[in-house]
Amino acid sequence: MRINKYLAECGVASRRGCDKLIADGKVTINGKPAALGDDVTEGKDEVLVNGEAVQLNARHQYYLMNKPKGYICSVHDERGRKTVIDLLPAGAGRVYPVGRLDYDTEGMLILTDDGDLAFRLTHPKNEIPKTYLVKIEGSISDAALNQLRAGIELDGRLTNKSKVKVIETDKKYTKLHVTINEGRNRQVRRMFESIGKEVTFLKRIKIGDMGLGSLERGKVRKLTAEEIFYLTNL
Ligand code: URA
Repeated sequence: MRINKYLAECGVASRRGCDKLIADGKVTINGKPAALGDDVTEGKDEVLVNGEAVQLNARHQYYLMNKPKGYICSVHDERGRKTVIDLLPAGAGRVYPVGRLDYDTEGMLILTDDGDLAFRLTHPKNEIPKTYLVKIEGSISDAALNQLRAGIELDGRLTNKSKVKVIETDKKYTKLHVTINEGRNRQVRRMFESIGKEVTFLKRIKIGDMGLGSLERGKVRKLTAEEIFYLTNL
């Protein structure tokens, strides 16, 4: 495998970032400085970056799912409802969803067995931005938009500031993009409830700057090494 691809798959940096590391002389193969076009064989060649050995991400599994509504974000449901695990391909291993989307919420969901990544993405102190497409009935006032942006009291505590943008509206409905950096229970739905609006459609469309691309509703694919790198460094 080409050295820059190998390093990216090991999660060292993006492919371009790896090119720079190689050009800067930070990478060695079997003790010799690596050059941009070099090839390496996993398990045969010793690859070091800044003197440290790198390993493929093969120890863990990472999936991206476009969750449909009607599935619960859990490994098992006592009430026998369908879970997101039911949508994984056979042999996916013991991965679990990172964070939760409600039963009725759709969109971007990461599933992995990498506990460190799951912890990083969900720990409130990391304030990872998550963007939702929200649909409500009717219109929304500027005052209500500003309230949502400034913070809404939920469970006796203000939510963090959020980004809220109307993207489409007519007399019957309004669609918005809402970016929050916490993951409180049913947060988006409850923020809108508290300004008197029921959310009629909710879909997570981004985690950080990463979106679903062309992944169709109900479909799952493996994350690429660059996506794993991006999420690990968010
Ligand atoms: N906010 C919600 O209300 N529901 C979700 O599933 C995610 C965020």
